[in-house]
Amino acid sequence: TRSYRIAVIPGDGIGKEVVPEGVRALRAAADAFGFGLDLVEYGFASAEYWTEHGRMLPEDWFDELSGHDALFLGAVGWPETVPDHVSLWGSLLQFRRRFDQYANVRPVRLMPGVTSPLAGRGPGDIDFYVVRENTEGEYSSIGGRIFEGTDREAVVQETVMTRTGVDRILRYAFELARTRDRRRLTSATKSNGISQTMPYWDERVARMAAEYPDVAVDQYHIDILTAHFVLNPDRFDVVVASNLFGDILSDLGPACAGTIGIAPSANINPERRHPSLFEPVHGSAPDIAGRGIANPIGQIWSASMMLDHLGEREAAAAVLRAIEDVLAGERAELTPDLGGKGGTASLGRTIAEAIPAAARPRP
Ligand code: NAD
Ligand code: IPM
Ligand code: MN
Repeated sequence: TRSYRIAVIPGDGIGKEVVPEGVRALRAAADAFGFGLDLVEYGFASAEYWTEHGRMLPEDWFDELSGHDALFLGAVGWPETVPDHVSLWGSLLQFRRRFDQYANVRPVRLMPGVTSPLAGRGPGDIDFYVVRENTEGEYSSIGGRIFEGTDREAVVQETVMTRTGVDRILRYAFELARTRDRRRLTSATKSNGISQTMPYWDERVARMAAEYPDVAVDQYHIDILTAHFVLNPDRFDVVVASNLFGDILSDLGPACAGTIGIAPSANINPERRHPSLFEPVHGSAPDIAGRGIANPIGQIWSASMMLDHLGEREAAAAVLRAIEDVLAGERAELTPDLGGKGGTASLGRTIAEAIPAAARPRP
């Protein structure tokens, strides 16, 4: 039978609590759909590994992880032990860059049974994707400090946009928009204030739009776009943005849809030359870590996206349906961020147990 080799990297904080629930859902889906899973767990990309080895990853990480069909990650970051830019540039950002996972796909959906903090919004009113450039832009390693410790001290960090880098993420977003009913693409820039990179991005959008006459294109400056996310979230279908703007929009969107605890993300290498990486949008949440109350749905939904990427479309759909069924059911069993009294493991088990029923075809 078909089988998939998955690297499982729990990381830090609630990553270690939600990853087992993602794995539970994967196993339930494998049982229901008859495929095999070869899961290999790694302890690197964590504060513990850092404390022991003085680095975030072993020297051979690239070859080790290259042997997998996909990477399933929790969250990285434990600022008490290691500065965030050190832990993240030493792990997650290396994965995204070295595996050329340039498309960061982040669905934003108001789910049945979930209350939006926006007045009067129900399921169907918020249903879009943030497509985030994931390898360049504002997240660049070009820069540094000069004249440190003097009164001329200065710090510079350059934004880099390459034609290849911009065009490939725009193409990914246009193609995604084409698969949707509304076929709308929104581009987020800041071309009034940032006068080189952002107008360049707009130029590439305009040029590519000509190839997609069936896709309606609009563009906003990022500042007013954040206001529209709150006031008019129903306007959006596929929102494409640079690395930093996409990062910000992909926390704002899920917050408008109830909680960042359910938001998933796929870091895709579309050419499939390297493994893609699946992780929730949220981080290690030190404020609630160790209490067993983190919402596991972001991790479980990420598992669904991973199954879809691996070609297990029906299993992916069943996992998502199980999430929806449970969200629409008893509120009490949900985690506190959703207004419930449940815990990570009990919610994870409830969803895993709902997968066999969700796997059966419905009229
Ligand atoms: P965070 O996403 O970890 O937490 C923000 C807030 O959301 C917190 O109040 C937290 O309790 C809550 N929250 C997050 N996930 C939740 C869940 N599943 N269920 C319920 N509540 C949840 O963001 P932060 O506080 O800015 O970052 C904490 C650490 O995580 C930092 O080290 C940061 O660098 C790192 N981080 C890592 C990733 C990643 O690995 N992809 C993403 C974001 C942040
Ligand atoms: C995310 C995170 C990361 C990012 C951090 C932890 C580097 O916020 O995946 O959204 O900014 O990409
Ligand atoms: Mn983020």
